[in-house]
Amino acid sequence: MARQHELILILDFGSQYTQLIARRVREQNVYCEIVPYNTDLSKYADANLKGYILSGGPSSVFDDDSPMLPDSFFETKTPILGICYGLQLMALKMGGKLVASENREYGPAVINISDEDILLKGVSSPNNVWMSHGDSLDAPPNGFRTLASTADIPFAALANDDRKFYGVQFHPEVNHTDNGAKIIKNFLFDICHVSGDWTTESFIESTVQMLKETIGDEKVILGISGGVDSTVTAGLLQKAVGDKMTAIFVNNGLLRKNEYEEVIDSYKSMGINLKPVDASEQFLTKLAGVVDPEKKRKIIGNTFIEVFEEAAKSVGDATFLAQGTLYPDVIESVSFKGPSATIKSHHNVGGLPEEMNLKIVEPLRELFKDEVRALGKMLEIDPLLIGRHPFPGPGLAVRILGDITVDKLNVLRDADAIYMSELKSTGQYDKIWQAFAILLPVQSVGVMGDERTYENTIALRAVTSTDGMTADWARIPDDILARISNRIINEVKGVNRVCYDISTKPPATIEWE
Ligand code: XMP
Repeated sequence: MARQHELILILDFGSQYTQLIARRVREQNVYCEIVPYNTDLSKYADANLKGYILSGGPSSVFDDDSPMLPDSFFETKTPILGICYGLQLMALKMGGKLVASENREYGPAVINISDEDILLKGVSSPNNVWMSHGDSLDAPPNGFRTLASTADIPFAALANDDRKFYGVQFHPEVNHTDNGAKIIKNFLFDICHVSGDWTTESFIESTVQMLKETIGDEKVILGISGGVDSTVTAGLLQKAVGDKMTAIFVNNGLLRKNEYEEVIDSYKSMGINLKPVDASEQFLTKLAGVVDPEKKRKIIGNTFIEVFEEAAKSVGDATFLAQGTLYPDVIESVSFKGPSATIKSHHNVGGLPEEMNLKIVEPLRELFKDEVRALGKMLEIDPLLIGRHPFPGPGLAVRILGDITVDKLNVLRDADAIYMSELKSTGQYDKIWQAFAILLPVQSVGVMGDERTYENTIALRAVTSTDGMTADWARIPDDILARISNRIINEVKGVNRVCYDISTKPPATIEWE
């Protein structure tokens, strides 16, 4: 993608907050990328590079195998902001004095600002910050002056204006640091002199242009799920190439209540060239009697490829396959080796490109989820589609513990639909990252009227999260939970017990399988 937008490169040293740095930069309408600290930077020789941010990280500069940058890196004329480990590394390489420490200081601290120019301009003093450091700086390198200190550390922020090198010992990117966004903004606008022209409008304009040039008169196919990522991808392609795009929507028989019909209606009303394929029977026949979650995922993944290939053939000679891949899926970093990727084999459409010999277009691969939602809004996509919770490729198959039958699917669909409608009507839905019902292979005793019952258990899951990597259970008010439970037990035949899942991730996962 030949776009010469301004670029901030974030060199990742393994901090859990690296992705937050990127989000804070993007919030200022400045494009940035996260790359591992040891990336070959020569590939950015032609980029419109405006600044580097060196992330924090768990290492000590005194460790034998600590992540390092070559001395030559610090000959750059490009501005640098070092955060925590990033600052210490810069100080070490520039000739400062560091003292190793056994203990890591981590948590809230207060900085007193002695010199607010330029980095800390507009930041109140004292200012609450989120501190993190193992080693401490004993003397700053030559040419650096001190901007701020805390009761414990004399050098909490440093500046070398000639070189445009700056550093903070705390984390400006986390919410616990007051005025953190201001500090990042000062670095971007007053030190790197960016213009902040990375906006949703400019993204749409340049991406539509890029798609037109790339696709030309060829045909492009896109697998859609009705979720926000594939829908926004479809919206962009529709704007760029119109009916040269065919969106293929496979019903795997594992969708939620009325989902297949609703997605078809929404896409039709957007004027998108949609090819719906109902392959429910094919999927459910293959899944009959299968209990093991990974086997279910494999069957669903493989069947999806078969069905999709067949549908793609009927579209005829497509050259491109579009995918709704997002930035968090492609960041190569030292920090985000989340457990989900290895614990569960996420199927999505993995394997398709190799088998089908198509060229890939991924118009969203530079964006975070919130940016995709903003894009969807601007493309005037149905707000219901944009706000939808993530839904896994294997669908309800991983929410029915044990084997899958049509009867079980119907019980789960009815319970889930009640749960969702209550969350929506009470305003809870949008506060939650993901909520869904699970059908457990557990029967228990109950009474209905004068009758003893022995029926199914539904578990309710609702989590808050920013990326699905970690999650907390949502504190849904108990009167709402009470109504959901009553309605499910009274209205869904075959359910006499409802439980609410109060596990965090980790150690639990979001899905139950
Ligand atoms: P877990 O359960 O691993 O889920 O905590 C994290 C996020 O990933 C989704 N998920 C999947 N998505 N195929 C998908 O496309 C899968 O096999 C799959 N398993 C989990 C899950 O819904 C949550 O958003």
